[in-house]
Amino acid sequence: MSTAHQKLERHSLGFAMMILLVASIGGIVEIAPLFTIENTVEEVEGMRPYTPLELAGRDIYVREGCYACHSQMIRTLRSDVERYGHYSLAAESMYDHPFQWGSKRTGPDLARIGGKYSDDWHVAHLEAPRELVPGSVMPGYAFLSENRLPTGHLPAALKALSRAGVPYTEAQIENAEKDAVWQADFEQNYEGELQESYGASVQVRDFDGQPGSLTEMDALVAYLQMLGTLVDFDSLNPEEVNR
Ligand code: HEC
Repeated sequence: MSTAHQKLERHSLGFAMMILLVASIGGIVEIAPLFTIENTVEEVEGMRPYTPLELAGRDIYVREGCYACHSQMIRTLRSDVERYGHYSLAAESMYDHPFQWGSKRTGPDLARIGGKYSDDWHVAHLEAPRELVPGSVMPGYAFLSENRLPTGHLPAALKALSRAGVPYTEAQIENAEKDAVWQADFEQNYEGELQESYGASVQVRDFDGQPGSLTEMDALVAYLQMLGTLVDFDSLNPEEVNR
C-alpha cells in the first residue's frame, strides 16, 4: 500500500512540477497586489530632483565610496528615530539612481545630515576628520578642495536620469552647466533660473569657502547640506505617510 504522496515522490518530473507550483504561490501572493496599484511610492510634498551641483556632489559621494561607511536610511526603530530624526520615507529616495540606503554604519547615518553642521565644519571635517573628531577613523578628502569640478558632462547626466524617470525638463537639462556653476558662485552674471525651476529649497552659496572657484568640495558639501531637508515632517499627517 502506498499513499498518493508516496506515488508522487517516485515520479521525479511530476514531483518537480508540484514543487514549482507550490513554491510559486508565495511569489504570486507577494507580486500580484502590485499590479493593481499605479505607484508603489507615495509622493510627498517638497521632493524635487537634485540640482546639477547636488547631483555632481552625489556622484563624488558614490565615487569616493562614502556609502561603504555611511547609510542613508533611518529605520523605524526607536533608537534610529531618536538619534537621526524622522524615519526615511520611500519617496525621499524616489529620484535616487542608484539609491544610497546602505547597511554598513562605520560612521553615522547621513540621511538627515543637511543643516546639522555649517559648511565650514563639513569642509574642515572632510579635509581632516581627526582635527575635529579626534578618534575618527574616517579618511581625509583634502584633494576635493583642490579638484576643479568638471561640468561638461552634466547635461548628459541629467538626460540619462530623465530616461530613468526623473522629471528633468528640457530647459533644466540644457542649463545644467550654468546652473551648477551659479549655485556655488552666485556673484557672476547669470541668466538661468535655478530657484525658479527647482524650487525655493535650493541653497545657493559658496560652499567650499573659496569664492570664485568651483571645486568638487563645493559639490559634495552642497549635496550633504540638502540631504533630508526637503520634506517638512511637521506638516505631514503620520497616517498618510507610507513606510
Ligand atoms: C572608513 C569609513 C568612512 C568612510 C569611507 C567615510 N566616513 Fe564619514 N565618518 C566615518 C566615521 C567613523 C564618522 C564619525 C566620526 C567623525 O565624525 O569623523 C564619520 C562622520 C561623518 C560625518 C559627520 C556625521 C555626523 O552626524 O556627525 C559626515 C558628514 C561624513 N562622515 C561624511 C562622509 C563623506 C561625505 C564621505 C565620503 C567622501 C565619508 N564620510 C567617508 C567613517 C567614514
